[in-house]
Amino acid sequence: MMRLSYSSFALLVWLPGILNAQGTPELCSVPTLLNGYLVPMKNSYQQHEKITYACENGYKPAVEGWWAESVCRNGQWSPQPLCIENSACTPPIITNVKFKEDSKSWYKNGSKKWVTCNEGYSTKNFHATALCVNGNWTNVPVCEKSKDACTEPPQIAYAVIINKEHQEVFPGDSEVTYQCKDDYVTEEGAKNKSIFCIAGNWTENPTCIYSPESKDGNTKPAFVPVENCGEFPIVENGLVEKSETLALRVRCQQFYKLYGPEKVVCYNSNKWSAIPTCKANYCSVNTNAYLDLIPAGVKFMTNGEIVELECKDIFLFTNHRVVWCKNGKATVSRCCNRWQISTGCLD
Ligand SMILES: *[C@@H]1O[C@H](CO)[C@@H](O)[C@H](O)[C@H]1NC(C)=O
Ligand SMILES: *[C@@H]1O[C@H](CO)[C@@H](O)[C@H](O)[C@H]1NC(C)=O
Ligand SMILES: *[C@@H]1O[C@H](CO)[C@@H](O)[C@H](O)[C@H]1NC(C)=O
Ligand SMILES: *[C@@H]1O[C@H](CO)[C@@H](O)[C@H](O)[C@H]1NC(C)=O
Repeated sequence: MMRLSYSSFALLVWLPGILNAQGTPELCSVPTLLNGYLVPMKNSYQQHEKITYACENGYKPAVEGWWAESVCRNGQWSPQPLCIENSACTPPIITNVKFKEDSKSWYKNGSKKWVTCNEGYSTKNFHATALCVNGNWTNVPVCEKSKDACTEPPQIAYAVIINKEHQEVFPGDSEVTYQCKDDYVTEEGAKNKSIFCIAGNWTENPTCIYSPESKDGNTKPAFVPVENCGEFPIVENGLVEKSETLALRVRCQQFYKLYGPEKVVCYNSNKWSAIPTCKANYCSVNTNAYLDLIPAGVKFMTNGEIVELECKDIFLFTNHRVVWCKNGKATVSRCCNRWQISTGCLD
């Protein structure tokens, strides 16, 4: 008896698997649709067969519009037909937001949706939640290009970009590398040159200069020993050292970040190549210095980070100061409650 039920179970599991393996897609059965109706009604539906459905009074499909289609795909309805209350919302449409795959297909009246903008974009005024009210989204956040992001890097004659695909917006700190075409070199005499997106602007563009490799090696070198350029350049919060005959190396102090090329060379015109800078890469906030914050010593955060510091509980709700660390400088809001934070408390 045991054996029999086990083997028939195995057969049931095994059979559709075999059919699938042979490329026969599974059929779909009639979907369960509460508070709605669909056409055509059948016992089973073929692969790619469509149904159309609508919902009873007080309900609507969980997609845009008052009627909706669903397609049979490998035994599943896609999307699953579903009628939701009129006061519920379908996912909001916001540009420059990538919703997670596991995002819900609908939201109850009164629920909030937290929005994370795509890389290089940030929510306007730190307002990041949309609210579903009676079937419509209100307070929908806007994702705008971050202030420290850059638009597409400039087109340079005789060069292409080799390390990044085209995109409309590049997040702050992005690096793109140009490569000169055959017989062309950069001012530094190299094939490649990287530029960086800093605080919304790209660092200095490369130029590709015609410089065919001569058979007898007669071309004038593009750069010369560093001594030809005189005194070494000074980089604030950084250290400049000679690393090779033809190059200096720049390093930044602790907590500072290098922007621009690490190597500096001396052109045959006796001028330095682009000099990098060292910028503070962190912020600190002394919570003890704010009378309304719960004292918790000095808080450190890295550039781009947004943190909330808890305020002393003199209000009805827990309040926070929002801190935004940008280019090494912390912007601190007043004490705000959740609602104020979601509607832009740093303004
Ligand atoms: C939806 O939510 C709003 C605000 O939360 C409330 O005023 C309204 O009565 C709700 N509507 C329904 C149909 O429940
Ligand atoms: C939702 O918005 C639509 C279109 O803007 C409008 O026709 C409808 O009345 C709104 N619904 C509610 C419950 O406010
Ligand atoms: C330029 O960069 C590409 C990709 O990183 C690399 O394959 C190539 O070797 C570099 N060329 C030179 C001359 O450095
Ligand atoms: C970026 O470029 C704009 C326009 O050229 C300029 O106004 C701004 O000061 C630059 N920002 C930085 C950080 O260099």
